[in-house]
Amino acid sequence: MLKGKKIILGITGSIAAYKATYLICGLVKKGAEVQVVITPAGKEFITPVTLSALSSHPVISEFFSNRDGSWHSHVDLGLWADAMLIAPATAASIGKMANGIADNMLITTYLSCKAPVFVAPAMDLDMFAHPATQQNIDRLRGFGNHIIEPGEGELASHLVGKGRMEEPDRIIEILEEFFTGSQDLQNKKILITAGPTYEKIDPVRFIGNYSSGKMGFALAEECARRGAEVTLVTGPVSLTVTHPQIRRIQVESAEEMYKAAMAEYPQADAGILCAAVADYRPEQVCTEKIKREKTGEMQLRLIPNRDIAASLGAIKREDQLLVGFALETTDGLTNAASKLEKKNLDYIVLNSLQDLGAGFQVDTNRITIIDRKGEITAYPLKGKKEVAQDIIHKLVTLVS
Ligand code: C5P
Repeated sequence: MLKGKKIILGITGSIAAYKATYLICGLVKKGAEVQVVITPAGKEFITPVTLSALSSHPVISEFFSNRDGSWHSHVDLGLWADAMLIAPATAASIGKMANGIADNMLITTYLSCKAPVFVAPAMDLDMFAHPATQQNIDRLRGFGNHIIEPGEGELASHLVGKGRMEEPDRIIEILEEFFTGSQDLQNKKILITAGPTYEKIDPVRFIGNYSSGKMGFALAEECARRGAEVTLVTGPVSLTVTHPQIRRIQVESAEEMYKAAMAEYPQADAGILCAAVADYRPEQVCTEKIKREKTGEMQLRLIPNRDIAASLGAIKREDQLLVGFALETTDGLTNAASKLEKKNLDYIVLNSLQDLGAGFQVDTNRITIIDRKGEITAYPLKGKKEVAQDIIHKLVTLVS
C-alpha cells in the first residue's frame, strides 16, 4: 500500500515533534521512502540527527546546504513526492501555509508540492479554537489539503481539550486509506444530486436557498477517487469538478433535477441525494419582470415540487442503494428516521443546523448516520472532504 511511496514529512515547532519519530518508523516499515523537512523551530524540539538516522536521508531545513553556492531545490522536492504530510503542524506554520508566507524550506516545499498534502495540527486548545486558526485551516481545506483533525485529550499545557495531534498509527492508516481504498467502487455507477434549486418567479428573480453544493461535490470527488463513475446532477453553484470520472449535469429547478435524476437512476448502483431541493415553486412564472410600480402588494402562490428522493425510493430495485440527507432544526433523530422510512432510503445522513460549523456554506460538517437496522453513528465535526469519506465508507460496506 505505502510501498515505494515517496513521502515528504514536514515537521514544525511543536512538542508533538517527537511523535514524528514514530511516523518515520511506521512509514519506513510499510516500505515508504521518507524525506524530512523541518522548520527552524522544529529543530528546537527534535534533532535532525535522530530524524536522518531513522529516515536514512539527510534532513532538509535550510535553503542553502553550505556556503559553497549549493542549495536545496524545494521545487524538485515538491515534484518528487507522492504525498506531503505536515505533522505536527503548528498554528504558525498553518497560518503561513494558508497565506503563502514562504520564509522557510518547509513552506516553500509546501507551495511547490503537486502531490496531495495532509496536515495534522497540534497545538493548545485555545489556539486551535481561535477563529484565526480555524479560518486558516478552512483555507487549507479550500486548497484541497486533507486536514487530519486533532484529538481531544491532555495537552502539553496540561489543559484538556482539542488540539492533540492525531496518533501516528492513525495518521499512517489515513495515508494508507488514501493510497489504497481508492478502487473499492470500481465499476460502480453513482448518481449524486447537489446544490440548491432555483425556482423562477420572473426572468430575473427566483426562490433559492443557501446550499453551496460543497458536500455533494466532495461526495462526487470521493466516489470518483474510489473508482466509481459518477453522474453529478447539480443546481446552480460556483464549484468546478476536477475528476475526469465525474459527468456533470447542470440543472436549475427542482423539476429539471427530478427529470435528470429519474432518467439516470435506473443505470446507477447507488443514488446519493444531497441537493437542497426547493419544496415549492411559484404556480406561475411571469414572462416579464414584475414591476413594483404596477403590482404594489403582491402574493405569490406556490405549489409543491415532486420529492426526488421519495420518487427514486419508489422505483429502487433490490440491487440498488439510496442515500438521503436530513437537515433539521429540531428533533433531528426522529425526523431523520421517519424520512429514511418514508423515502425508502438505505441510510440517511443527519446534520443539524443547531450545530456550529454544520450545514450550508461552511467547509465543515457534523453528521450522524442512521441506517435501516436502526444503527446510529455520530461523527465529530470534520471537513466536508473527511465527512464525504465517512459517508462513502458506509456505502462501501453496503454495496455488493
Ligand atoms: O424531506 P426533506 O426535504 O427534509 O428530505 C431531505 C432529503 O430528500 C434530501 O436527501 C434531499 O436531497 C431529498 N429531497 C429530494 N427532493 C425533494 C426534497 C428533498 O430529493 N423535493
